[in-house]
Amino acid sequence: MQNATLHQLKVFEAVARHSSFTRAAEELFLTQPTVSMQVKQLSKTVGLPLFEQVGKKLFLTSAGKELYATCQDVFDRLSQFDIAIADLKGLKQGTLRIAVITTAKYVIPRILGPFCQRYPGIDISLTVTNHQYILDSLAANRDDLYIISQLPEDSEAETHSFMENPLVVLAPRSHPLAQEKNIPLERIAEEPFIMREPGSGTRKTVQKLFDAHGLTMKVKLDLSSNEAIKQAIAGGMGISILSKHTLALEGLNNQLAVLDVEGFPIERQWYVVYPGGKQLSAIAQAFFDYLLNEGKQVAEQTSFQGLI
Ligand code: PGA
Repeated sequence: MQNATLHQLKVFEAVARHSSFTRAAEELFLTQPTVSMQVKQLSKTVGLPLFEQVGKKLFLTSAGKELYATCQDVFDRLSQFDIAIADLKGLKQGTLRIAVITTAKYVIPRILGPFCQRYPGIDISLTVTNHQYILDSLAANRDDLYIISQLPEDSEAETHSFMENPLVVLAPRSHPLAQEKNIPLERIAEEPFIMREPGSGTRKTVQKLFDAHGLTMKVKLDLSSNEAIKQAIAGGMGISILSKHTLALEGLNNQLAVLDVEGFPIERQWYVVYPGGKQLSAIAQAFFDYLLNEGKQVAEQTSFQGLI
């Protein structure tokens, strides 16, 4: 049997299972003469006929039956080997460490759902934090993958965008500007502002915009949580600029209004990032591929009332 090929065994197994050369040929996308030829060569190697034709029916000979049982063992062992290799590659168990900026927490857990179903043995460690902390973790190589919205400067990191993350101006629904159109940025600058903490990417982007227009924000309150900022807006403490994704759970009856301000929304992206040269684990690579190929679609399918 040393001269038999795996391909011949596969062809033989299919013929034996279907009791038909024609159906085996269809299954394997081969021509019928090719299938016959492979079985003939295998039978020559074995030194005995493997099938016998009785009337229109095809039967296994005794040697054929022996070989069929052997094939089943061989293919079982091979598929166990596949599973063992997947284990070794880490797709069956292990931990995927992801660190994401605060806005990604509205979407990443929903994207993770189907991924975890696909790889049920995998544990996820998800850190939600701000832009600066992510950059520190990236430099210290603490996690497998990172999600940020502003690309690190002077970094060799691998970065790939996978979804939009626009910034919008939020005010209480009852705010007089809620009815206005094309509000100039100068007008917004007169309002008391609630801002994210230093180190926040949201804050950085907003600050850059105001600086570019030579405007100063009247920051009344610094808060390190998007949710707390939304509550403070609803409570009438001021307006703010946050990612549109922070509205993901509000529904249509929310107490906040998105103001129509010139230059808004500020179009930004979420990027999935890892240090350049880092060898991703099998599971990190699988999540990376899934995020780029299916992430946006899954997020849209599971989004609340089509908000994203
Ligand atoms: P941040 O980042 O949590 O650092 O503000 C969020 C974002 O930029 O979307």
